[in-house]
Amino acid sequence: MALLRIRHYPDPVLKKVAAQVTEFDDSLHQLAHDMAETMYAAPGVGLAAPQVGISKRLTVIDCSARDEDAQLLVMVNPEVIDQEGECFEEEGCLSVPEYYAKVSRSATVKVRFQDLDEKTHVIEAQGLTSVACQHEIDHLDGILFVDHLSPLKRSIFRKKWKKIQEHLTEQM
Ligand code: NI
Repeated sequence: MALLRIRHYPDPVLKKVAAQVTEFDDSLHQLAHDMAETMYAAPGVGLAAPQVGISKRLTVIDCSARDEDAQLLVMVNPEVIDQEGECFEEEGCLSVPEYYAKVSRSATVKVRFQDLDEKTHVIEAQGLTSVACQHEIDHLDGILFVDHLSPLKRSIFRKKWKKIQEHLTEQM
């Protein structure tokens, strides 16, 4: 087990479209375990492999702190195959620490993914888990939640981010 270093905006790995996972080997299992440990330590409700510098389509999500029906979800090659409704909830991201903003998303999503043993699953997610699925799958396509903001809000974000970065550097 190991804690992985979380990459922060604007690390270029966060902008890359991640590669499909084709090898379901021990190193994939190890990476998923390390990502879950890193997410819990942060703490966060989701983490995608590009956020730890690995451009592969793998995410971990655990919304059980706020949704008692939720549990750890390890998703390989996930894709949204159906979506319904709209929601507008505040989001944050371990790669954009100390910044939160409301983002418009689908209220429920149907997600198809493979587990670590290459078996295919389809789940229907709602609430925080639905938002987390959309947020994490975006990471696999090189999209951050701040990319969904209006041009005005993005310019406010960029100014705030400069201050946040100075603050983060002071903490190191
Ligand atoms: Ni994120």
